[in-house]
Amino acid sequence: KVVEWDIEAASKGGFDHFMMKEIYDQPQAIHDTLMRRLDEDGMIHLDDIKLTKEDLDGITKMYIVACGTAYHAGLVGKYAIEKLAKVPVEVDIASEFRYSDPFIDEHTMLIVVSQSGETADTLAAMKLAKAKGARVLAITNVVGSSVAREAHDVFYTWAGPEIAVASTKAYTAQMIAFYMIALDFAYKKGTITLEAYHETIKKIEALAPLVQEILADKDEIEKIAMDMKDAQNAFYLGRGVDYTTAREAALKLKEISYIYTEAFAAGELKHGPIALIDQGTPVLCIVTQEALEEKMISNIKEVKARGAFVIAITRKGNTEVAKVADDVIYIPGADDLLMPVLSVIPTQLISYYVSIARGNDVDKPRNLAKSVTVE
Ligand code: G6P
Repeated sequence: KVVEWDIEAASKGGFDHFMMKEIYDQPQAIHDTLMRRLDEDGMIHLDDIKLTKEDLDGITKMYIVACGTAYHAGLVGKYAIEKLAKVPVEVDIASEFRYSDPFIDEHTMLIVVSQSGETADTLAAMKLAKAKGARVLAITNVVGSSVAREAHDVFYTWAGPEIAVASTKAYTAQMIAFYMIALDFAYKKGTITLEAYHETIKKIEALAPLVQEILADKDEIEKIAMDMKDAQNAFYLGRGVDYTTAREAALKLKEISYIYTEAFAAGELKHGPIALIDQGTPVLCIVTQEALEEKMISNIKEVKARGAFVIAITRKGNTEVAKVADDVIYIPGADDLLMPVLSVIPTQLISYYVSIARGNDVDKPRNLAKSVTVE
C-alpha cells in the first residue's frame, strides 16, 4: 500500500490554511526576532548593522519606505524612532517615493521594509536613495534577498517563511524590528537611559505570551466576526498608532474578504467619512491609547448615532468602551507604543473568519500576488 502524503498539508502544521498557521506562528516569530539578538547582559546586538554613534549623530532625517503591509509596519516604526531615538522620520509608499524627487543627502537614512526582499518599487526606491548618498538599512525576512544585498545594513526578521498572500507574522516581526532598531539607535545616541532601555526590552519580551493569550480567545473573536460577514462595506477607525493598526486591519479585510474596507483617522470623520455611515454599517474601532480614549468614545457615539454597528478592540479592564459599542474584544494591555503588536491580532482573525464564511480562498486571494516583482 502506498501512503499518500501531502507536503502542503504537512507544512500547514495541522491548520486548514497557511494564514491561520502563520497567525499562530506569531508568538514564536516575535520571540525569535528579539531573542536572537540579546546577549546575556540583555543588550541588543545588531550584527548586520554597522552604524556607529558618529554615523547616527550625523543623520538628521530618516525615510521609511515600503509597500503594502510593510508600509504599515513603517508607520509604527516612525513612532518608535521619533519617540526613542529623536530623529524626524517620514514614511512613504515606495511607488510614490521613487518618483517624488525626494530630498536626500549624506545626512539622510533610508529604511526599507520588505518581507520578500524582492518588491520592485522598494528596490528601485533604495537604489535611488543610495545614488543620492543616503545610508540604506533594510528590514527583510529573506536572507540574501535583493533588498538585503543592495542595503548597507540589514535587519533580518526571524518570522520564518510566509506563504499566505495576506501578511501576518512578517508584519508583527517587522514591528519588533523597529522597536529594536529604535532602542539600539537611542542607546547609541544617548537619548534613552540604560534603565529605560532594559525596561522596554522586557516589555517587548512580554509581548509573545500576550499574543498567545489573544489567540486563546479565537472562538469569541470568530463569533464577533460573523457580525461582519455579510457587509458590503466596513470602516475602521483609530487615532495615533491605533490608526496605523486600523489601516493594516482594513487592508487585511479587503484583501481576503473582498469587502470594501477603508480606515480613517477618527478625528477626520466629520470632514467627510461620516457621510458613508448608514444603518448597520460595521465600524471597527481600535481604542488602546490611554490619552486618546475619550476622543475615541466620542467618535463611537457619533457613528452609533448614524446607525453604525460598532465593534471595538480595547484593553482588558476598560469599562467605558462597552457602554457605547455593540461588540467588544478585550486584549491585554502593554505600553502605548507596543499596543499595535497586540491590537492587530484580533483583526487578522476577523479577516480570516470573514473570508472563510464568504467561501473565499484565504491563502490565495483573487488578483493578488505574494511578491510584486514588476511595476
Ligand atoms: C504584496 C503582498 C503584501 C505585501 C506587499 C509588500 O502586495 O501581497 O502582503 O505586504 O506585497 O511585499 P514585501 O515583500 O515587499 O513586504
